[in-house]
Amino acid sequence: MKPPSLVHCFKLLVLLALARLTMHVPDEDMLSPLGALRLDGHFSFHDVSAMARDFGNQCSFLPAAVLHPGSVSDIAATVRHVFSLGEGSPLTVAARGHGHSLMGQSQAAQGIVVRMESLRGARLQVHDGFVDAPGGELWINVLRETLKHGLAPKSWTDYLHLTVGGTLSNAGVSGQAFRHGPQVSNVNQLEIVTGRGDVVTCSPEDNSDLFYAALGGLGQFGIITRARIALEPAPEMVRWIRVLYSDFESFTEDQEMLIMAENSFDYIEGFVIINRTGILNNWRASFKPQDPVQASHFQSDGRVLYCLELTKNFNSGDTDTMEQEVAVLLSRLRFIQSTLFHTDVTYLEFLDRVHTSELKLRAQSLWEVPHPWLNLLIPRSSIRRFATEVFGRILKDSNNGPILLYPVNKSKWDNKTSVVIPDEEIFYLVGFLSSAPSLSGHGSIAHAMSLNSQIVEFCEEADIGMKQYLAHYTTQEQWKTHFGARWETFERRKHRYDPLAILAPGQRIFPKASLPLSL
Ligand SMILES: Cc1cc2nc3c(=O)[nH]c(=O)nc-3n(C[C@H](O)[C@H](O)[C@H](O)COP(=O)(O)OP(=O)(O)OC[C@H]3O[C@@H](n4cnc5c(N)ncnc54)[C@H](O)[C@@H]3O)c2cc1C
Ligand SMILES: *[C@@H]1O[C@H](CO)[C@@H](O)[C@H](O)[C@H]1NC(C)=O
Ligand SMILES: *[C@@H]1O[C@H](CO)[C@@H](O)[C@H](O)[C@H]1NC(C)=O
Ligand SMILES: *[C@@H]1O[C@H](CO)[C@@H](O)[C@H](O)[C@H]1NC(C)=O
Repeated sequence: MKPPSLVHCFKLLVLLALARLTMHVPDEDMLSPLGALRLDGHFSFHDVSAMARDFGNQCSFLPAAVLHPGSVSDIAATVRHVFSLGEGSPLTVAARGHGHSLMGQSQAAQGIVVRMESLRGARLQVHDGFVDAPGGELWINVLRETLKHGLAPKSWTDYLHLTVGGTLSNAGVSGQAFRHGPQVSNVNQLEIVTGRGDVVTCSPEDNSDLFYAALGGLGQFGIITRARIALEPAPEMVRWIRVLYSDFESFTEDQEMLIMAENSFDYIEGFVIINRTGILNNWRASFKPQDPVQASHFQSDGRVLYCLELTKNFNSGDTDTMEQEVAVLLSRLRFIQSTLFHTDVTYLEFLDRVHTSELKLRAQSLWEVPHPWLNLLIPRSSIRRFATEVFGRILKDSNNGPILLYPVNKSKWDNKTSVVIPDEEIFYLVGFLSSAPSLSGHGSIAHAMSLNSQIVEFCEEADIGMKQYLAHYTTQEQWKTHFGARWETFERRKHRYDPLAILAPGQRIFPKASLPLSL
């Protein structure tokens, strides 16, 4: 099985064009009742091309219409209408968060895209231990609002300009997941519009099957219109630390020790720096530290390096305590002593760090380029073998983008959700976050795709029990393999909550009656 490619998307486009000619596709007759629905918001049938783009920049499917909902009932009325058209209708509905998918997952070819951001801002309500957030709200806004009350969510993604409904439909993983679990483990309640157009409030107590289905559910069971997210007291500041290793085993043993330790850091990640071509990836980008002088002269000498990234939260009154705790923790680690970097920043500055990089990349026109990303979950028992093959042989440099690598503990992942993870107590998130700014050579999509294929093929041939995160497949067989033993539950839930397969067609898991699925 190969990772996504342009060819797949292109083939689908051709098939859709043919389908338009030969099959029953949405035409004016089918869409005109949409205009007759009584809504608080409105539909647009033109200027829809912005909804045919995403962060991956590799797939583009024009929708037939875009719903700009003015209320949750607008979404329900729209889905109910499509449901009432029955099996014969090819119309589908895709919720679009911030469109930060990689391969068209939030698009709907000739269907209806619901612009969830139209509902944001509305009713972002902070309570004592939780916040109620609209599904289309950006996490950065959730943070800004909760901080006004001295509170914040516990589990994050590395980048906050993503929506609540979008990350909860995947998992939401970052350096806090070792302690709090992914974002889907930190939700108390959801409000969902199902594939029948019903509005259902669900939680671990009420309608729990739908609640767990939707978490990590890839948008297959309903549209999340509101999420109740657990909060904790927010720290004022974080000490943000980076240290380097040249030995993979010491690096991962230290990471594993830290995610197990009782009084540990508050955020634990890591990344891989490959400098074999002589150009060292700028591993301190977006870091404005009071660097020790000798550290800034550090030479990689052609070795593969591993950067451990950590934070410790603190408030202005307890800097001394924080420094003592950090010193004790660092004394237990085996990093290269001359490579200790740290800086103190506000909690908001730390959490919003990738946005700082985004602004720099945008200024150089390097943000809206194709992103052939590959995210893998690798069982701990194989991580060394994986590293030897991938960092030792397949990849020659890490100049196409960051390579993340950090462990999490499965006990923090609720196995009732739809999220698919490896079957082992500790597994690593390994993210190859490549950009493809050029048409040929090292910076091209073709080059990145070829490396991605080699990595995936290695995992499959070595049978290491890898699972993809933010996966993209083109056939239901591949999805079945991905879900493994969980497929039966996933399929049962689909029949129950979205029996006509109206929702999130861009995931290409369940074909709607008359559309081609497999390529
Ligand atoms: C720079 C960057 C950094 C990232 N870092 C991380 C990270 O650290 N950790 C991590 O876990 N992920 C990370 N991601 C991936 C992120 O989780 C996905 O992009 C995800 O799709 C969220 O993006 P979105 O809100 O724009 O959702 P979209 O891409 O718009 O939607 C994603 C899917 O969910 C469906 N959907 C959207 N909204 C809803 C809703 N309200 N209800 C039901 N279904 C819905 C869509 O139909 C689609 O199938 C990162 C992405 C980027 C671009
Ligand atoms: C994972 O978490 C569980 C539950 O907290 C704990 O018992 C176990 O020791 C952890 N495993 C490792 C290897 O850290
Ligand atoms: C990268 O590796 C080369 C050797 O291949 C070395 O000369 C160079 O100094 C390294 N770059 C840095 C910044 O360490
Ligand atoms: C989920 O975890 C529980 C407790 O660890 C276990 O008993 C159950 O079999 C697991 N279920 C699935 C579907 O893996």
